[in-house]
Amino acid sequence: MKDLFDKIYKDKGPLGKWADQAEGYFVFPKLEGEIGNRMKFQGKEVITWSVNDYLGLANHPEVRKVDAEAAKQYGSAYPMGARMMSGHTNLHEQLQNELAEFVSKEAAYLLNFGYQGMVSTIDALVGKDDVIVYDVDAHACIIDGVRLHMGKRFTYKHNDVASIEKNLQRAEKIAQQTGGGILLISEGVFGMRGEQGKLKEIVALKEKYNFRLFVDDAHGFGTLGKTGAGAGEEQGVQDQIDVYFATFAKSMASTGAFIAGDQEVIDYLKYNLRSQMFAKSLQMQLVVGALKRLDMLRSMPELKEKLWENVNALQNGLKERGFDIGTTQSCVTPVYLKGSIPEAMALVKDLRENHGVFCSIVVYPVIPKGLILLRMIPTASHTMKDIEETLEAFSSIRERLENGTYKRLSAGVAAAMGD
Ligand SMILES: Cc1ncc(COP(=O)(O)O)c(C=O)c1O
Repeated sequence: MKDLFDKIYKDKGPLGKWADQAEGYFVFPKLEGEIGNRMKFQGKEVITWSVNDYLGLANHPEVRKVDAEAAKQYGSAYPMGARMMSGHTNLHEQLQNELAEFVSKEAAYLLNFGYQGMVSTIDALVGKDDVIVYDVDAHACIIDGVRLHMGKRFTYKHNDVASIEKNLQRAEKIAQQTGGGILLISEGVFGMRGEQGKLKEIVALKEKYNFRLFVDDAHGFGTLGKTGAGAGEEQGVQDQIDVYFATFAKSMASTGAFIAGDQEVIDYLKYNLRSQMFAKSLQMQLVVGALKRLDMLRSMPELKEKLWENVNALQNGLKERGFDIGTTQSCVTPVYLKGSIPEAMALVKDLRENHGVFCSIVVYPVIPKGLILLRMIPTASHTMKDIEETLEAFSSIRERLENGTYKRLSAGVAAAMGD
């Protein structure tokens, strides 16, 4: 019989196998200093494009002050216990009410982490007779929530309305046999490529098919829509989203998340969400911090305006220089280049060491072989100087990629990897 750990010793997994070449630099890098447009990486200042602090709240003096005061008043223990048992407070309730109002829903419920909350909400919404229909490019939290489902599930081609309809028809057939219902899950914004989910088109399909819509709007909340209420507001279909989800980990620059919907639906989830029934309540300092951030989202539209000024300057600058930024419809700014993984590594090293530009790099198997995706997250705290310097840096690395410099520089790594 095999030792359970044999596989661990032999195979580190699809990402783990790159650990020797990548750890500490391409993965698990240490960004140091105050969170902002410029931080320190390995002792040197870099322009940071990989921090999801969209509205620049992470290091805002008012936010820091409230966070510090809340920590002083409540420490990190309060309240103890799960919401249902001993972890419920007036402030948790107040935050839920304010969040619900902000996203135009009757009620909201807090989650400790977005990832677990999404998994748990999917789990609570469906039973074995129900059918799930979801985007093939869904975030891991959706995929993992669907994994718990005992019934049928269908993926549709990414943001493809014909494929959505085809899969709704398949789901309908099954649901008619089992006597179950259909849950359709989309993201408000797809975090890698920046496209918005086709919410308007999906909602239109409600005329023909009987399904409920669950939207993960992690990247849309605070960044899209007139008031910042997200992708549903932006597309004019917020009232047709049956369950709305957003995390505090992006625009709100914190930890925690929430779901919102009709009172009866949220009441049901409150009594059936295993991630909240069997885990400690969201810490009070996070609740107080979220109330402050939400207040700023509502009362300081200039934060979102500044964010979009930067997004437009960066995205237009890249397009003017002939870069392929795909079909983004949000702040998420992908830049697609052609090259191998070793070339991508040399390129990112050049960007960081010689140009002081820090962004995330995504390669195969997350995207097709031969493509390099540099993913940038503009924020309200970036400056026009940051953008100009970054655009210059990008022009320079593209030239070196095209003239074979990175191929030469990475020849040793490529040989070692058998690439
Ligand atoms: C689309 C999406 N959903 C859910 C999550 C998980 O949220 P959290 O970081 O609060 O666990 C993320 C990442 O943060 C995300 O990008």
